[in-house]
Amino acid sequence: MKIVPMQGGCGAEVQGADLNTLTDADVAAIRAAQGEHGVVFFHDQDMTPAQQLKVARRFGDVNVNRFFTPVPEQPEVALVLKEPRHETNIGGGWHTDHSYDAIPALGSMLHAKEVPTNGGDTLFASMYLAAEALSDGLRKTLMGMSAVHSSRHVFGSEGFYSRMEDDRYHNPELATQDAVHPVIVRHPVSGRAALYVNPGFTIRFDGWTAEESRPLLAYLYELGAREEHVCRFRWHEGSVAFWDNRATWHHALNDYPGERRLMHRVTIEGEPLPAYAA
Ligand code: SIN
Repeated sequence: MKIVPMQGGCGAEVQGADLNTLTDADVAAIRAAQGEHGVVFFHDQDMTPAQQLKVARRFGDVNVNRFFTPVPEQPEVALVLKEPRHETNIGGGWHTDHSYDAIPALGSMLHAKEVPTNGGDTLFASMYLAAEALSDGLRKTLMGMSAVHSSRHVFGSEGFYSRMEDDRYHNPELATQDAVHPVIVRHPVSGRAALYVNPGFTIRFDGWTAEESRPLLAYLYELGAREEHVCRFRWHEGSVAFWDNRATWHHALNDYPGERRLMHRVTIEGEPLPAYAA
């Protein structure tokens, strides 16, 4: 197995691995590479939903997302689907999954089943590099702050995804989570500082109003998505991205009108996120 860093600010391709037959040493190496690079990529992986679930369980307990419609044959595996007739896509904006949970998920393993002929790439941004790009003064200020994250405005009955075509999401009544996390977290695997606010789910700084929070959050979002912090993944059928929510944001591009894109996603449970202390 060979780990080759991607061009850009994050990500590494794991070459020569068959996810169905990983040794314990392979699992440890993938976990370390994911902690270091934020996201790891694989190609040519042949996995049924049941096999994908089995592979994901090598990395931790599985979190069954309450809002995603599952694949029919495997309720723990979420369907990430855009049909040719759909205009909206799932994950089409910078975000970090599950930051609205008190214990946010570690990350997700996404397996490509059908990809468009062109487009449908996913962007990832390194929140390690975002934290490092802050001035010493702003980093120190942010290290003493927390932010509030919510699922309501995204998955709730009036939320953004209520406008999504067909039944790709469900359970809007369960979108009741608000959680408070440090703005700069200590990454559980690498120990590095990572910026932990995101445009999808962060609604304000703790103790600040949404209006007061907006300008500083807008600055952090611009900083996080800077070109030098980003890598871009081109999918093929059988490709896998396994990202770490504590070290990256991601953004699924919606640039393939009239084509189908079908992915299977399994999410792994995480752990409480401590504040980074220098
Ligand atoms: C997601 O945000 O989980 C979907 C990412 C993708 O489809 O590339």
